[in-house]
Amino acid sequence: MDTIKYAFATPILVKDWSDSELLNARLAEIILDRENVAPRFQRSNIGSWDSEKDLLEWPFEEIGVLRKRIVSCVKELTLAVTKGKYDPRPESMLAHAWANVSRADSYRKIHNHESCTWSGVYYVKSQLVKERSKNSGNIEFLDPRMLCISTELPNSSFGGRSRLTPQAGRMVLFPNWLYHYVNPVEDNSLRICIAFNVKLEPLSSKRRLEGMRALVSTVSREQA
Ligand SMILES: [Fe+2]
Repeated sequence: MDTIKYAFATPILVKDWSDSELLNARLAEIILDRENVAPRFQRSNIGSWDSEKDLLEWPFEEIGVLRKRIVSCVKELTLAVTKGKYDPRPESMLAHAWANVSRADSYRKIHNHESCTWSGVYYVKSQLVKERSKNSGNIEFLDPRMLCISTELPNSSFGGRSRLTPQAGRMVLFPNWLYHYVNPVEDNSLRICIAFNVKLEPLSSKRRLEGMRALVSTVSREQA
């Protein structure tokens, strides 16, 4: 019997954390307070505020909860893509993170993330008005098979985009090399998120990216 093998699928974990209202309300407060006093960092963000990449070191217990959620998602996706053969120890995870506050007309240019294992985003607040555009504030991933765009095959997935709607309490985890962008946030709505990178240290070079720290040491201290 003939078979069709679909090769080179790209994993994107979408995890919706329930019971996140109080956590998100507090994270929003913390981030908006920081926005009032801290400089804006320029990355792929156009018109929005990005914090420094030191968010995981901010001294709030809610940041500790976020770190645990990152650890959980990194374990889940790593186990999935290695068919259960590699269960990363939390001690091997290095990470850094930064906050983003987006309002009217702000967006993110096409980009991917620096050399690491996984990149991700956690949505803290998503008050998007979708009247003018249902894609307002959505994150869109581009087909990483770069030669696909030369294929003219209607209704195929070649060269397509994968869209996700920001939703408070949602964490999205994907390979760092996957190109993505964020559509303009419209109608003065507010979108607050936390972006992060995670490096599984034993699998890659020992070079730590800007501000990367062990995720687990802080987690353990909080549990103690
Ligand atoms: Fe990104």
